[in-house]
Amino acid sequence: MSRLLIRDLAQIASHQGEALRGRALGAVEVVEHAHVLVGEEGTIESVGPMRELPEIEGDVEEVDGTGLSAIPGLIDCHTHPAFAGDRAYEFALRAGGATYEDLLAAGGGILSTTRATRAAGAAALGEIVARHRDAMLAHGTTTFEGKSGYGLDRDTELAQLEAIVAAGGLPTWLGAHAVPPEQPDADAYVDWAIAEVLPAAAALATAADVFVERGAFGIEPARRYLRACGDAGLVLRLHGDQLSEIGAVPLAIELGARSVDHLEATGPEGVMALARSDVAAVLLPVAALYLARPMPPARALVDQGALVALATDFNPGSAFCESLPVVATLACTQLQLTPEEALGALTVNAAHVLGLPDRGRLAPGLRADIVLLDAPDWRHLAYHLAGDVVHTVVRAGRVVVSRA
Ligand code: NIG
Ligand code: FE
Repeated sequence: MSRLLIRDLAQIASHQGEALRGRALGAVEVVEHAHVLVGEEGTIESVGPMRELPEIEGDVEEVDGTGLSAIPGLIDCHTHPAFAGDRAYEFALRAGGATYEDLLAAGGGILSTTRATRAAGAAALGEIVARHRDAMLAHGTTTFEGKSGYGLDRDTELAQLEAIVAAGGLPTWLGAHAVPPEQPDADAYVDWAIAEVLPAAAALATAADVFVERGAFGIEPARRYLRACGDAGLVLRLHGDQLSEIGAVPLAIELGARSVDHLEATGPEGVMALARSDVAAVLLPVAALYLARPMPPARALVDQGALVALATDFNPGSAFCESLPVVATLACTQLQLTPEEALGALTVNAAHVLGLPDRGRLAPGLRADIVLLDAPDWRHLAYHLAGDVVHTVVRAGRVVVSRA
């Protein structure tokens, strides 16, 4: 691989440091008239003003950054890309007044996607996840996490994890997403999943996740599931406080989870508890928008010192959207975060949630994941609602998307 020089950029914007809380989340370093030089290994060799560009010997591929700005590759730390079929019919029902909970209770929602996903077969799932990965990439996502959770049987759960790995994603076993119809209840299902799926899932996945909610998994089965997953070496994550506050935040803290995600229903005590803990708060404003629910208490979480990340929650039911730039816009318009805070939550803090300290910032030695925005001011990332703002994407030093 030859070296890559991105020259004459109008701006570069990046955070420094990892796992940012409070004011540090808003501290972006902006360099005007800048360069990024990528080495043969696909890592950043030099980044800074053009006047500090080192002498380059040998071959180098050049990208003209005139009129463009550069940010770190975006990191989507919460997606559900391994599903077959769609839920357009339910989308229409919800537009007519049906609720997400009613559809799930009636055997639709997650369970309707489970029926389609079980029927799809492993080869189709591989193609589906690769297609969604490419769509994410076109929106500037250079790293994605992907969850299973639409199989709820052994073979389909494992096929989903394999499809996510094959597409280059970070796999999370969402074994406890809903109780499938062949199981009597949440307790029996969790026992079965721990005995029959966990050993193989733990060999494929890096994390485990559970949907803690009325109508999905209550605190006791969630605790049992997560403890078993933790014992098997998996990082723990939770879908918590999406529709109701039934104790997901205290459970996440008790178990030393990496993150609790959603938090639309979290009250002041939960905010304070998270701020004092090492559990990251992953906020998913597209899901709140899509289901017309209250937005999570982002401002309070950041101000009180919680570790906040943002993600799409891409899935066929509650967030059919691959775009992290849209998430950035929602963060600034609905969550009262600044563009600087949104960028940090989509890069360094998302990298922390996924345990990837080698990316999320533009700094020498880190993986060269770079997004060039088609604007001289990097804040167009959030400013241009659903705009075609991504111009070029570099992943591990290679240009993988280019509008040049
Ligand atoms: O994060 N809430 C649970 N899981 C997903 C939705 C999955 C679905 O509706 O298919 C979420 O919103
Ligand atoms: Fe989710």
